[in-house]
Amino acid sequence: MAISDTNVVPALEMRQICKSFPGVRALDKVDLTVYKGEIHAICGENGAGKSTLMKILSGAEQMDTGEILLEGQKVHLDSPIRAIHLGISTIYQELNLAPYLTAAENIFLGREPAGSLPGFVNFTEMYRRAEQIIDSLGVHLDVRLPVNRLSIAQQQMVEIARAASRDSKIIIMDEPSATLTEHELASLFTLMRKLKSEGIAIIYISHRLEEIFGLCDRVTVLRDGLLVSTHNVSELDRQQIIRLMVGRELNQMIPERNVSIGDPVLKVDKVSRKGKLKNISLTVRAGEVVGMAGLVGAGRTELAKVIFGADLMDSGEIQFMGKSVHIDSPKKAIELGIGLVTEDRKAEGLVLPISVRENITLAHLHKISKGGFIQSGAERTTAEHYIKDLSIKTPSMNQIVQNLSGGNQQKVVLAKWLCTQSKFLIFDEPTRGIDVGAKAEIYNLMNTLAGQGVAILMISSDLPEILGMSDRILVMHEGRIAGELMKTEATQEKIMHLATGGQ
Ligand SMILES: Nc1ncnc2c1ncn2[C@@H]1O[C@H](COP(=O)(O)OP(=O)(O)OP(=O)(O)O)[C@@H](O)[C@H]1O
Ligand SMILES: [Mg+2]
Repeated sequence: MAISDTNVVPALEMRQICKSFPGVRALDKVDLTVYKGEIHAICGENGAGKSTLMKILSGAEQMDTGEILLEGQKVHLDSPIRAIHLGISTIYQELNLAPYLTAAENIFLGREPAGSLPGFVNFTEMYRRAEQIIDSLGVHLDVRLPVNRLSIAQQQMVEIARAASRDSKIIIMDEPSATLTEHELASLFTLMRKLKSEGIAIIYISHRLEEIFGLCDRVTVLRDGLLVSTHNVSELDRQQIIRLMVGRELNQMIPERNVSIGDPVLKVDKVSRKGKLKNISLTVRAGEVVGMAGLVGAGRTELAKVIFGADLMDSGEIQFMGKSVHIDSPKKAIELGIGLVTEDRKAEGLVLPISVRENITLAHLHKISKGGFIQSGAERTTAEHYIKDLSIKTPSMNQIVQNLSGGNQQKVVLAKWLCTQSKFLIFDEPTRGIDVGAKAEIYNLMNTLAGQGVAILMISSDLPEILGMSDRILVMHEGRIAGELMKTEATQEKIMHLATGGQ
């Protein structure tokens, strides 16, 4: 039976969904049909409306107008609880587990098997059933461990196990892959295929096109809150999907860079930090982009924090512009001209409840303030410039950052550091969660910075990005630099070999 056989009642139909926020039409008459046993991708640029559509389906946001049908029956999804009862589960990117409870307790939260006395939980039974679910999903983890002792990937598996144990008919995954390593991704995909074979419909949001091709049956593309079209994935190629998403041809993802490399800007000499970094030495020169590859947990972010003064080293030395420096705080790093564009925009990069304008100019305030007063004219000009340069989608520079889509929040983090005019910038996963069109813009920006003599250390788990952007690639493994590859000799295989501990 073909998936879009017209005689089959769809698992889900969303019809003519509209949703506005102040100043933004997030969704305008969007239709979405999803069948049992399909993995349905939703694609679109940052701010296209993907998460909003899914929030409506999960009961977290209310639509203004439209209709939702589950297996042909009209439903009112007026709360997350209602959606769960109707068989719709959501795997959030910001994981939604109780950190100190065990995996088993999280899976059965609110539905714990009763013990022989009223009000007591039958733990033996709960662990047995949790193990059964985890096993049936083909996952390996100890259900008796508190989830804060599990890796992010394992925590995600626990969320999926919870969804599976609730007899979900539809599972929504909004960018689940952004925080996972290649290896963990493989287990997630196996798990998704298993759920699909059991007839569950999965709605999958990701900015990684290869995942859409490798995993999904159909794809719905949104642009600026409008439905562009829905296709069988097998009908499309990469260029076609990109064209549907950005509405134009995008031939060269990673632009050429022609920059002559100058003197060392930053030198790290035998830096160690207990349990995290072992004897790290590296040099980054003016105009150079050094890529830093490795698996999650290899110590790359840890190294970035030490250079930025957010963590302290136990031994070793850092030289900046030829002088030995003691960076004991981020403030000191910023004063020297060192910036860190972080991957974790919530925890480190952004102040969410304040405006886009204030966030952009935050790290740069000492440059635009005179005698302790912020010159609002200068602040506005700077903010305007970057909103335009990075095509940040916001109704105005006064919008609260919290209300921007995920990818646009990431662009605000970038803008914030670009306007500090640093001499050395660390980019930690700079394009995670960023759409294809904006990725190309960010690469162009990095090239412009390199052209101005900025030295760049780019941490990334995206191998095509590492290969395309780096003059030189360092690979970290278990807190050490496992190897160095020149641009001309580097391949995905060589990087993965070093990253997984090969010699
Ligand atoms: N609570 C809110 N208040 C105001 N505007 C909002 C709110 N939530 C979303 N928006 C706006 O609605 C639009 C769609 O956002 P949404 O988060 O759905 O995009 P997205 O397609 O998921 O993007 P991304 O790929 O960046 O995650 C954006 O312009 C966003 O700024
Ligand atoms: Mg989103």
